[in-house]
Amino acid sequence: MQKLIIKGRKELSGKISISGSKNATLPILAASILAKRVRIKNVPLVKDIFTMIELLNFIGLKTKLIKKKNIIEIFNKEENINTLAPYKLVKTMRAGVLVLGSLLTKYRKAKVSLPGGCAIGTRPVDLHLYALKKLGAKIKIKDGYIFAEAKNGLKGARVKFPTISVGATENALLAAFRAKGRTILKNCAVEPEVIDLVKFLKKLGANINVKGRTISISEYKTKSEKIIHQVIFDRIELGTYMIAGTLLTTKSLIIDKINPKIIKTEIAILKRIGAKIVKNKNSIVIKKSERLKKINITTKPYPGFPTDMQAQLMVLLTQVRGISKIKENIFENRFMHVPELRRMGAHIEIKDKTAIINGPTKLTGAEVMATDLRASVSLVLAGLIAENRTIINRIYHLDRGYESLEKKLKACKAEIKRI
Ligand code: UD1
Repeated sequence: MQKLIIKGRKELSGKISISGSKNATLPILAASILAKRVRIKNVPLVKDIFTMIELLNFIGLKTKLIKKKNIIEIFNKEENINTLAPYKLVKTMRAGVLVLGSLLTKYRKAKVSLPGGCAIGTRPVDLHLYALKKLGAKIKIKDGYIFAEAKNGLKGARVKFPTISVGATENALLAAFRAKGRTILKNCAVEPEVIDLVKFLKKLGANINVKGRTISISEYKTKSEKIIHQVIFDRIELGTYMIAGTLLTTKSLIIDKINPKIIKTEIAILKRIGAKIVKNKNSIVIKKSERLKKINITTKPYPGFPTDMQAQLMVLLTQVRGISKIKENIFENRFMHVPELRRMGAHIEIKDKTAIINGPTKLTGAEVMATDLRASVSLVLAGLIAENRTIINRIYHLDRGYESLEKKLKACKAEIKRI
């Protein structure tokens, strides 16, 4: 099994280019079922994307991944289509459940494995199914699978989500895209990745309007045969390197291929803590931070502080004087990095949904184990600031979502290698 070995306390300087967003690419790949020919640019080469491509191939689409250019071309020749998403593919990558909306729209039926829980929580799909039922789908759960059908096609409806969910909003969009009549989705997730999907669907001919948390979809008219789409940058990857820079830069770390307007909240919070961030149009520069100050943060849906940045922020807060608090409001079991950070010397206590971080503490290298994607990258950040050597096990989690992590960090003078 592969491991990462990090020799900490190395100054970071240079330039990091941010990859395309995994969480934007996944629903767009699912939406490609609805098109004839698609060319997607800025596709991150990470495991979850390869799994989704495998799923599209299984369904019967033809895919061509041009790795050197981060481009994928997808053709739907409508031959030998399988309206099935099997357990073996959905269990490792929950976003597989997003093909449900597309398959229902296009083929009026789908059999999709229930994704089940994962390390960060139970992660149900009841809200996805609630929206699909409102749009007229008949749904049955049997043998671990969702059986969905809309014999006469889906019908526009009003859907008000009781809880804001990224995945449920995306599945509802995919299902409402060609529904008869008008659909109004209320209390939607409006993460930049959802908006990127909306942009893609508009290119496919959808008539979609987003206003606050309300998304309305009118009957689609035009049909586009060939679509070209450039995926937005990965704001979580950007946030992760912003924290690395804040912890370890004394000169400057340039991060490019981004749009700072999309991560206003993260930038404002890091600045309040003491980060020095200079914004440009398509890049930011991290300079030597000021004295770091404590903060209390709650994770929230966009435009709030993202749950996907919680673990990384916690590492930063171990270096801050005083007591900081992070309340995790989205997932119930997302503090699994805490015992590992404690083994490296961090003083963190957990009370219900809140982590209480007492800093600053000198972290020292240890052998640690990653449990999920963002927890893994928080251990990388901890290893980068720790004294001595940190060994990170189970790094397949990292490979699910961070493109060329070691390469990017090494180029900025970090000492990190994979064995
Ligand atoms: C997506 C992201 C994930 C991110 C999360 C929150 C992808 C592939 N994944 O996950 O990286 O951490 O958004 O920003 O884009 N819920 C229900 N019932 C449902 C669906 C969700 O109760 O049917 C609850 C969840 O348990 C959670 C909350 O809603 O408490 C938000 O989850 P959701 O936004 O759906 O997360 P994902 O779409 O799974």
